[in-house]
Amino acid sequence: MDKSSATELARAAGLNLWNFRGRPLLPVVQGGMGVGISAGRLAGTVASFDGVGTISSVDLRRLHPDLMEATCELEGPAAKAQIDAANKEALHREIRRARELAGGRGLIAVNVMRALDQYETYVRQALESGADALVVGAGLPLDLPELAKDFPKATLVPILSDARGVQLLVRKWEKKGRLPDAIVIEHPRLAGGHLGAAKVADLKDPRFDFEVVLPEVREFFRKSGYEKDIPLIAAGGISCREDIQRLQGLGAAAVQLGTAFAVSCESDASLAFKQVLAGARPEDLVEFTSVAGLPARAVRTPWLDKYLRLQERMQKAAHQKPHCTMWFDCLTKCGLRDGHADWGQFCIDKVLGYALAGDVRKGLFFRGAGRLPFGTQIRPVQDLLNHLVGHLVPPTVAVPAAELQEA
Ligand SMILES: Cc1cc2nc3c(=O)[nH]c(=O)nc-3n(C[C@H](O)[C@H](O)[C@H](O)COP(=O)(O)O)c2cc1C
Repeated sequence: MDKSSATELARAAGLNLWNFRGRPLLPVVQGGMGVGISAGRLAGTVASFDGVGTISSVDLRRLHPDLMEATCELEGPAAKAQIDAANKEALHREIRRARELAGGRGLIAVNVMRALDQYETYVRQALESGADALVVGAGLPLDLPELAKDFPKATLVPILSDARGVQLLVRKWEKKGRLPDAIVIEHPRLAGGHLGAAKVADLKDPRFDFEVVLPEVREFFRKSGYEKDIPLIAAGGISCREDIQRLQGLGAAAVQLGTAFAVSCESDASLAFKQVLAGARPEDLVEFTSVAGLPARAVRTPWLDKYLRLQERMQKAAHQKPHCTMWFDCLTKCGLRDGHADWGQFCIDKVLGYALAGDVRKGLFFRGAGRLPFGTQIRPVQDLLNHLVGHLVPPTVAVPAAELQEA
């Protein structure tokens, strides 16, 4: 596959292209992954093959030594404004980088979690820096139409998990005179990171199954006269062309993958991060409640194992703290800072930062539950996309670790 032939291969493989605003795209979206896992390099590479690459907006200064050096030791009430400014600058740089790599192909999206304290700032910065699309999850983005009103061409994409959530959001947006340009339907039993169910016990609820949600949502669209207007993107556990065909058969226009892109050569994470995800077996995965109050899925690494053993004791001792451990206040509501006894009791920015840097002992490594197309191998985005469109990929291209580190 070269960059110009990706869509032809997909079509030849029996997949429907995603015709988005008159542009034929590969029906493959690389999901946003924070902190720093999907930044400009990964998103730009995916877009260069006519796919959709998504930059995760949260705490991107961690990928920029100058910005990190200027802010990592800051303390006290004045620290937050400087950290936030560094992150705005980092987001701008990553969008520019993605654009350069994409060479005008595909789409560059920015993922912003609704639960973030700087949600509005990141939304505005992403739009001002020229992102094609905004993808918002981890909470209901009911206010996104107002925030994006000065950018009528921007594509707005909420992430939801069940038909009830879709109906609620669409009805609210209708009143503001705007519809979502697409909707990601993310399966909480399969996806990685924060999950769209109220609690861990709900993750396996059959109402989230693609076979249930996609037809229900399409029926709602049909009754509302929207079937043609709002493409659906199915996310979670997708690993091959047959999965894409099955989901397109259920009415999805495209699919979104996270973990498989996180372990690609071009992923912005460290090699050790990729090896932890690629090396995890199904029994190594665990679900728990994060500090954002949402269920999450990750690899049971030493830090997480210890935390889960201590969790109950820490929750019993939960109390409101005078300030955020990092003086960053990354979340609007934080279980640790605000003392929510039912929520997680750890500093998420710190442990995700350790994971990004490849600290296997101290990091939190989000991961989806599905199998990876290349098992434990770290391979280029090009191989992954070839595999997804059913194009034969040589089985034994092992890239030396030194090269992977540089990639
Ligand atoms: C390491 C990691 C970090 C993630 N971070 C985010 C995030 O910041 N925002 C978000 O909306 N989704 C996040 N996700 C979810 C992905 O975008 C994607 O929808 C999901 O992983 C798809 O499932 P899969 O991993 O089985 O392909 C993350 C997933 C992983 C694996």
